[in-house]
Amino acid sequence: MTEAFTSLPEEFAAPMTQARERLGIFANRVYWYSEVGSTNDIAGTFAEKAADEGLVVLAERQTAGRGRLGRSWASPPGAGIYVSVVLRPSVDAAKLVTIAAGVAVTDGIASATGLSTHVKWPNDVQVSGRKLAGILAEGAANHVVLGIGINVQPAAYPPDVASRATSIEAELGRPVDRGLVLAECLASLANRYRELNQNRAGNIVEAWRMRAAPMLGRRVEWESAGSRHTGVAENIDDDGALIVKTGNETVRIRSGEVRWL
Ligand code: BTN
Repeated sequence: MTEAFTSLPEEFAAPMTQARERLGIFANRVYWYSEVGSTNDIAGTFAEKAADEGLVVLAERQTAGRGRLGRSWASPPGAGIYVSVVLRPSVDAAKLVTIAAGVAVTDGIASATGLSTHVKWPNDVQVSGRKLAGILAEGAANHVVLGIGINVQPAAYPPDVASRATSIEAELGRPVDRGLVLAECLASLANRYRELNQNRAGNIVEAWRMRAAPMLGRRVEWESAGSRHTGVAENIDDDGALIVKTGNETVRIRSGEVRWL
């Protein structure tokens, strides 16, 4: 077995070893924990200690899993994939890391399980309006920690999440190989991250638009400067910002909360 995978349970080690050639920067160092607060925090600590780009932190459960905008991310033991990677992108590439990860997770899930999912700006992977995976990119001076949470098995999610969440197994009605999902998502991410670094960001944006088809053309609502606005989500631009049409104005939303109506 590849030395980088020796700390992994067999469920992950076997598919990661099989996919090794395609894992690129994610094939070198993978740390597995039975329990952590947040894999993003552990990866951030490694990054601050000069860890190489590509370091992977994987956990069986998180006790303080985080989502965007200060939300928590339910991380019941064994029911999902909770993974963070250390990246050191250029300033331009960093703008598209979340978009690239959305494409990679969508494609990784499809190649591991056959399940078709779509992306929802800025950081969700969904099936029929229910969230199946989320992405949290946290940047610091010289690195980005990219965290990915994927619901694999139906689990006892908190009531506020349960009605809006789904999992790969709930959608397919059969068990899936969690290790294979991880390996395929990381292999796809390695590929998309390489494209970003080779100035082929256009490919990623194009791939994202195709995977966002059910969401584009829908009405969205957001707040800015204390007032509420609505418009139609038309596209994302080459920096990953959401382009919304309001009457005869076009608005560019870079981050923050958007409600899809
Ligand atoms: C979101 O949808 O708001 C983002 C969810 C991101 C969850 C993942 S799970 C692995 C990593 N560690 C965390 O604490 N969060 C991310």
